[in-house]
Amino acid sequence: MIFFGRGSLQLACALVILLHTGSAVGFNSTSAAATARCVKRERQALLMSKQSCNCTKPEVLLQFESALRIDLQSPEVDFELFEREILDLSFTSVIKELPSYIRGWTPRTYPYKSLVDKHGVLSTWGSEERRKDCCSWTGVKCTDKTGHVIWLDLHDKSFSGTLNPSLFELQHLTVLNLSWNYITSSRIPKSISSLKQLKYLDLSFNSLSGSLPSLLGNLTILRSLDLRFNEFYNVENLGWLFHLSSLKHLDLSGIDLSKVNSWLQVVNKLPHLTNLELNLCNLLNVVQQPLPMINTSTSLAVLDLSSNNLIAPLFQWLFNFSNILVHLDLFGNQLQGFIPESFGNMIFLEELYLGSNQFEGGIQISFGNLCKLRLLDLSSNNLKAMLPEVFGNLSGCLDLTLETLNTLNGTAPNFIGLLSELQELYISENSLNGVITDAHFSKLSKLKGLAMSSNFLSFNSSLDWIPSFQLDDIFLSSCKLGPKFSKWLQTQKTFSSLDISSNGISDSIPKWFWELSSRVNYLNISCNHIYGILPYLSMKFSDYAGIDFSQNKLEGPLPLFPANITSLFLSNNGFSGNISSLCSTSSKTLELLDISFNQLSGELPDCLPSWPNLKILSLGHNHLFGKIASSTGSLNKLETFGLRNNSFSGEIPSSLGDCNHLQFVDLSHNNFSGPVADWIGGRLGYLTYLLLGSNNFYGDISLRLCQLTNIVVLDFFNNSLSGSIPWCIHNMTTLTRKENLDSDHSHLFRSIGRYFLSEDVYVDKANIVWKGEVYEFEKNLKNLRLIDLSSNKLNGEIPQQICSLFELVQLNLSRNQLTGRIPADIGQMRNLESLDLSQNQLSGQLPSSMSQLSFLNTLNLSNNNFYGRIPSSTQLQSFSAYAFDGNCALCGPPLTPRCPEDEKPLDSGGRYI
Ligand SMILES: *[C@@H]1O[C@H](CO)[C@@H](O)[C@H](O)[C@H]1NC(C)=O
Ligand SMILES: *[C@@H]1O[C@H](CO)[C@@H](O)[C@H](O)[C@H]1NC(C)=O
Ligand SMILES: *[C@@H]1O[C@H](CO)[C@@H](O)[C@H](O)[C@H]1NC(C)=O
Ligand SMILES: *[C@@H]1O[C@H](CO)[C@@H](O)[C@H](O)[C@H]1NC(C)=O
Ligand SMILES: *[C@@H]1O[C@H](CO)[C@@H](O)[C@H](O)[C@H]1NC(C)=O
Ligand SMILES: *[C@@H]1O[C@H](CO)[C@@H](O)[C@H](O)[C@H]1NC(C)=O
Ligand SMILES: *[C@@H]1O[C@H](CO)[C@@H](O)[C@H](O)[C@H]1NC(C)=O
Repeated sequence: MIFFGRGSLQLACALVILLHTGSAVGFNSTSAAATARCVKRERQALLMSKQSCNCTKPEVLLQFESALRIDLQSPEVDFELFEREILDLSFTSVIKELPSYIRGWTPRTYPYKSLVDKHGVLSTWGSEERRKDCCSWTGVKCTDKTGHVIWLDLHDKSFSGTLNPSLFELQHLTVLNLSWNYITSSRIPKSISSLKQLKYLDLSFNSLSGSLPSLLGNLTILRSLDLRFNEFYNVENLGWLFHLSSLKHLDLSGIDLSKVNSWLQVVNKLPHLTNLELNLCNLLNVVQQPLPMINTSTSLAVLDLSSNNLIAPLFQWLFNFSNILVHLDLFGNQLQGFIPESFGNMIFLEELYLGSNQFEGGIQISFGNLCKLRLLDLSSNNLKAMLPEVFGNLSGCLDLTLETLNTLNGTAPNFIGLLSELQELYISENSLNGVITDAHFSKLSKLKGLAMSSNFLSFNSSLDWIPSFQLDDIFLSSCKLGPKFSKWLQTQKTFSSLDISSNGISDSIPKWFWELSSRVNYLNISCNHIYGILPYLSMKFSDYAGIDFSQNKLEGPLPLFPANITSLFLSNNGFSGNISSLCSTSSKTLELLDISFNQLSGELPDCLPSWPNLKILSLGHNHLFGKIASSTGSLNKLETFGLRNNSFSGEIPSSLGDCNHLQFVDLSHNNFSGPVADWIGGRLGYLTYLLLGSNNFYGDISLRLCQLTNIVVLDFFNNSLSGSIPWCIHNMTTLTRKENLDSDHSHLFRSIGRYFLSEDVYVDKANIVWKGEVYEFEKNLKNLRLIDLSSNKLNGEIPQQICSLFELVQLNLSRNQLTGRIPADIGQMRNLESLDLSQNQLSGQLPSSMSQLSFLNTLNLSNNNFYGRIPSSTQLQSFSAYAFDGNCALCGPPLTPRCPEDEKPLDSGGRYI
């Protein structure tokens, strides 16, 4: 799967702003480096923001004063506040001496950080004589006249660290751009409000947190404010925006605004606003307030409200000014009903996204009047219209302008062939049916993107078809292209993405296929019946490419793969030979390697450390053997480690505990031995699935296992573990609480989206014995909560703490040597559906609380020493007698022996009275 980034527009906008910025500040680049006009105080401020400072006293004070806006000389220092703010600003340097007038406050060591410049991009910044002219430093520009710093652009420099308040000494700044770094300040320092000249502020794509300071309202001449995709929280008030009356561009995307109930009013009062972007802001309560009328002077041209929870009443507001909108994005909301006719009046619209809503019915409106419309997205709604209906009789001008069509349910879009300007046709994942032929494409010579995956379409083309287009992106999954490789693909020489998965292709890969394109970043031919041997993957893949050949009939040795890819799926094929051939490639980018379900042999290669970014390593179901080398511990990004069903042996090296991002470990069905050692507990705090079944592990189950607080599946089935079940088992807190897991079993890995590096999802799979049968769990693995310790040599009693695992769904302790009673409170485990305690030496009466296990549908208590009456409940009496077999003294339904107290009393001669 690949994500279609919808980011083309963002990129375009960004470019516009950048150009705009250049001219707005009137920067004169030719003379900047010529003379040292740099203001000393500003130079120091810049330097301080770069370095962790070993500050001398006056500098420290200067910083405190500017950062905290409190006068340290004043006796009325609020020390509590003072201290809180210092901590908040994360000082690291040792502040030993502070003037005696700050009484009542004990100087201490405070962490102080600044921008951490790992890659040395600020090497031009320095205090030495030759580097003194801060106007010629990277990212800095000054005015000619006064030499003040007016421009600071440090975007995308991989800075970490925090925002140093000294930055805000630069009081003449008009542009500040720190976007795309890893800055983690726990809030925006208040002193930012001293940047009174600021016109462009961009802090987007960092990790700034805290609330949005209302002091931003002091930046009264701001034209552009971009704070999107940080980690701000508790944003309740946007009232400060009223003060920014020159604002043209506002982007708060990705910031939770659900607590703000006035965003519409605020927006209405910004008379110059042209771009408003509130994507993914959790906007929801539009309907609960009277909708304000929009200020008639509004100039809004670009409005992005996508991926919120907006519902239909929004339209009243929208249609007030809709006639000037150029770009409208309402994708991913909860808009319902018919698509309002008023959309037909938005005659300036160039791009309209209405996808992923709940629009229904046919389409009454005519898009035919939207003569500028280039992009229309109606995907994923409940629209039933046929496409011709949508576009009326095509008397409009749409056929001349539409470049991207992302559409809906219906029959095969016949008239698409008329849209000769079309550049992008995205109709994937709909319910379109019918046959597409090459004739449909005869006029589409400008087509660049074609996505028709996952419909009910067939794509039939004549053998000698030579398309008039050269595609960049080809997504034709499930289009019935087989049984041969489509020959027309040979004409496509420049594509970067190709997905022809699930097309019933039973063919070997033709030679020409490997000479197709020289910049592939996504190649997916999975789920076909493609056979043959793969050559060296010589197609020139670009950095971060993803390759998926899984689920075919490929054979022979594993192919050599290019170094800079991020994912390689080769699972479910017939590859054979030694996996050490993989070692020919070391890769700093590889994040995912799945070669499970093949015929591979050999030992776990010792080259694993040469793939330091590996997150997912799936080698299950092969013929691999040997030990896990301790160097595996160097894979400290590893999240999924699957070795299931091979012949690995030896002990688990304790270094595996260094892989402290592990979430999913499946070592089952091998010959591993040794203790289930301490490496597991303590260090692997994210571990959620631990499957060690059918090996030769022995020894006690360490108490440290209880530190796996995130565990949801613990499967030690069929080993030789002894000792007792850890009493601290209730520390596995995810099993005790109903909560959403922090980390479930899906993992993000990098892939190239349509426009930029994006992320894709890998979902773990596991074969698990579920109510007595083996099932493969994939998506539904997420809801599984089970402990299986069966077929070991465990002894002692079942700890009563186990009853706190309220969320446990399956508990299997069968075939051990457990003694004692079933804990009395077992009825607390309300979610239990399957309980197997068979073949132990448990005894006593069955606790009456068992009758509360109302979801129980699989039960086995056979072959123990239980006695007495089986508690009564709908569930317990519904099981067959086998569930209670081999316990000579159990009685009452569903068993036939009646309990003594149910018997009529006997007379002295043993006869019923
Ligand atoms: C900041 O830099 C980014 C990345 O180049 C750019 O997209 C954005 O427009 C810049 N912001 C400003 C306000 O100049
Ligand atoms: C830029 O510098 C050049 C050369 O010093 C000068 O001729 C020109 O007037 C300057 N432009 C501005 C806008 O200051
Ligand atoms: C601060 O002092 C430490 C120890 O003297 C030194 O290692 C470090 O380089 C200094 N940092 C700066 C930025 O001067
Ligand atoms: C910010 O604005 C408020 C009023 O809006 C004012 O009271 C305050 O003094 C200003 N702060 C600065 C630092 O300019
Ligand atoms: C398309 O229509 C069919 C039949 O009316 C419906 O079952 C299906 O959910 C719709 N699909 C989409 C993506 O709207
Ligand atoms: C790609 O590989 C080359 C050499 O193999 C290396 O120089 C380059 O940095 C790599 N690119 C990335 C993004 O890792
Ligand atoms: C169980 O959890 C408690 C509370 O978090 C902790 O103090 C205790 O050490 C844990 N016990 C074990 C054996 O891990």
